[in-house]
Amino acid sequence: MKTGERANFGSKIGIVLASAGSAVGLGNIWRFPCETGENGGAAFLLVYLLCVLVLGVPIMIAEFLIGRHSHANTASAYKILSPGTPWRWVGRMGVLAGFLILSYYAVVAGWTLDYTVQAVANRFNVMAASDPTGQVFTEYFARFVADPWWPVVYLALFLLMTHLVIVKGVEKGIERSSKILMPVLFLILVVLVFCSLSMPGAAAGMEFLLKPDFSKVDSRVVLSAMGQAFFSMSLGMGCLCTYASYFRSDANLAKTALSVGLIDTCVAVMAGLIIFPTVFSVASLTPEAGPSLVFIALPNIFQAAFGGVPVLAYLFSVMFYVLLVVASLTSTISLHEVVTAYLSETYHLSRAKAARLVTAGCLVLGCLCSLSMGVFKEYTVFGMNFFDLFDYVTAKLMLPLGGMLIAFFAGWVLDRRIVWGEVTNEGSIRFRGFQLFIFILKFVAPVGIGLVFLNELGLFRWL
Ligand code: PHE
Repeated sequence: MKTGERANFGSKIGIVLASAGSAVGLGNIWRFPCETGENGGAAFLLVYLLCVLVLGVPIMIAEFLIGRHSHANTASAYKILSPGTPWRWVGRMGVLAGFLILSYYAVVAGWTLDYTVQAVANRFNVMAASDPTGQVFTEYFARFVADPWWPVVYLALFLLMTHLVIVKGVEKGIERSSKILMPVLFLILVVLVFCSLSMPGAAAGMEFLLKPDFSKVDSRVVLSAMGQAFFSMSLGMGCLCTYASYFRSDANLAKTALSVGLIDTCVAVMAGLIIFPTVFSVASLTPEAGPSLVFIALPNIFQAAFGGVPVLAYLFSVMFYVLLVVASLTSTISLHEVVTAYLSETYHLSRAKAARLVTAGCLVLGCLCSLSMGVFKEYTVFGMNFFDLFDYVTAKLMLPLGGMLIAFFAGWVLDRRIVWGEVTNEGSIRFRGFQLFIFILKFVAPVGIGLVFLNELGLFRWL
């Protein structure tokens, strides 16, 4: 790279894989099956798909075009596109959201490292053998997250892994790692789906996920599906805006957004196809197990479901937790990049120095989040420990608010010629449905997300 020239992704496939890497994460493999289980299965899935298409993809295109047109980190992007206006605060809020999300997301990512180690050491098998009731898994999880040392060690390790990719730069770090990690992720997913579908509960699991019962669709399901689509596609904080600032001018923004939306949805559905057949294969479990599904129910399920063939139970567990590590890593990389790019470009720091600041800051905040489940349990804000507070403030408040403002900005504020120029690459490619796209940005997205937002704030108890 010449001095003064901005880094770029080297290839179109690199662009899709890096963006999909950001989108695919704990949100797909952990949060999606939880939400689907709690919201009635297939009916939720259908509403979710609608949200991805109608809301997610257009907002992703909006983030892409803001990033690529400004060629800057997300905070500077608004300063460049709308100088001297308060819009720059939307970008700054995104950077702050990225920093806070990374701090607690890396804690959960750290847990996936521990679970991988336990799976490799075949500890889940030993646990299952020692206690047929499965209580041992609940106790293990509770003890582990409250421990003052191990979760912090794994948090530090995960941040270090992320850091090492970031300092290598956009093309050699982010793009190259995505090109390796995403195919690995896909391969593991396919093997796991195949195994899962050969289990006795496969038919019941498939039916739960794929046969909709429309009587289950109510406003709560619709609002949860919107929120989930949003988090899962990494929208609302300029993550994809930052990545798009490294896109080349010939990248097709709409096509990329569609591909990323498709990959993200496929991974979520595949995670469902892994988890539900397994859940339905164990008599004592129901899909409504909630957030503990991945860390308490699943290690137990794997043993119970494949108990007759210990090798399969072992391989399934190891692959599943490696899958979680890989998916989390590509997402933490994208979160780290948002803050690193902002610091290095705004304060003229070297990339390495900016990355060190981000990693150190996240380590401090991450420790606080991790310890808030153990030694700092007594310290709460609005009745929430630090971990829950970070999750609430970012995923439930900052992301919807950011998404709403991004859609509003692209629909109402940004010069229409800029929008047109970006989505058609200055007229060289076709973009069908431009009017519809603008209509969604102007009206559907701000109103739709506004509803999710108000719901999260608890203002819709009457709905
Ligand atoms: N989309 C990621 C996931 O599904 C989470 C994420 C949210 C990443 C926001 C970046 C920005 O896990």
